Amino acid sequence: MLSRTPPMGFNTWNTFGEEISDSVIRETADAMVDLGLRDAGYEYLVIDDCWSKRERDPESGKIVPDENKFPNGMKAVSDYVHSKGLKFGMYSCAGTRTCADYPGSFDHEFLDARTFAEYGADFLKYDFCFKPETANGPLLYRKMGMALKACGREILFSACNWGSDEVNTWIRSTGAHMYRSTGDINDSFASFRDIALSQVDNLAYSAAGCFNDIDMLTVGMYGKGNVGSAGCNDTDYKTQFALWCMFGSPLMLGSDIRKMNDYILSLVTNKNLLRINQDEEARPAFASSGKAGKTPCFVKLLSNDEIALMFANLTDEDAHVQLYFENIGITAASGFGLEMKDAFTDECIGVKKEFMRMRLAAHDCAVYICKLKK
Ligand code: GLA
Repeated sequence: MLSRTPPMGFNTWNTFGEEISDSVIRETADAMVDLGLRDAGYEYLVIDDCWSKRERDPESGKIVPDENKFPNGMKAVSDYVHSKGLKFGMYSCAGTRTCADYPGSFDHEFLDARTFAEYGADFLKYDFCFKPETANGPLLYRKMGMALKACGREILFSACNWGSDEVNTWIRSTGAHMYRSTGDINDSFASFRDIALSQVDNLAYSAAGCFNDIDMLTVGMYGKGNVGSAGCNDTDYKTQFALWCMFGSPLMLGSDIRKMNDYILSLVTNKNLLRINQDEEARPAFASSGKAGKTPCFVKLLSNDEIALMFANLTDEDAHVQLYFENIGITAASGFGLEMKDAFTDECIGVKKEFMRMRLAAHDCAVYICKLKK
């Protein structure tokens, strides 16, 4: 079964945009292995938009790689990625053109799925630009879902229609293994905060086999690249990564992995946070207040009777963040409290009862893995 837990990997779009090439992919594959990212679970290396020529091959009708960017063809790139113990991902679009105006798969779904299988692709991101007006959105995803089933290779289907057409109510039935639920992220605190908060009511539309994808991470971009803006600082990235882990989103790195610094590397390989994201029960998180707010506490039940808690200050000033245990089902009368381990420091802070309140700097967060204890 694919996508038993949220898929993890790297995608070229956030940093490279159209500046992709054979060497960028090979160097990224090398870095994913050398830095230990592959061993931490980041297995898919996905080439996003802009990899093909502007038009299909007139004779075969196939999409063809741009030979200036990929002079050895796509199979050679895929073989290299596989030789590093990684999986290879491709990109296309349900409309007539991709979002960056390259050929889309509309009316060529079965041919394109077979082409991706010939490349040795293990993953397909499937976008939603240039959809003919009369075309039915859900049916376009059903078509590619069927085409992938017919292509003779197991390919993870990553849908990307940005949450339109009430996607969460039907996408799982198309065979998709993950689905973008929001518009595009950019590298700013406001962007990722708003994306995350927009999905607080949709966290339960995510489970083993098909996960709610809140977009590729900007963690470690510092304003550089293709979706750069003001950029973020390390505190912001800590909170972004913790939110993505708590929300059970796929974890697709988007920064230039070849230049990843030690802080970002330790953040994205943090064992406690990855355990929360990859928990086998894949239960949705919920907000303790029942709704999205700027000083939320998120709760996610894990296997082995553990409970993950995240306290976040999503305001631009210092703030108190608090949780009343009664609000998440731990009654005072039960006598139980929570034994808490800090996910960032591994420090055990003992058993807390009835409530937890803390002061957090602007944009900062705290994450704990807890057990019920008297
Ligand atoms: C859309 C998607 C992005 C990226 C671009 C590529 O905007 O949402 O993630 O794939 O297209 O053009």
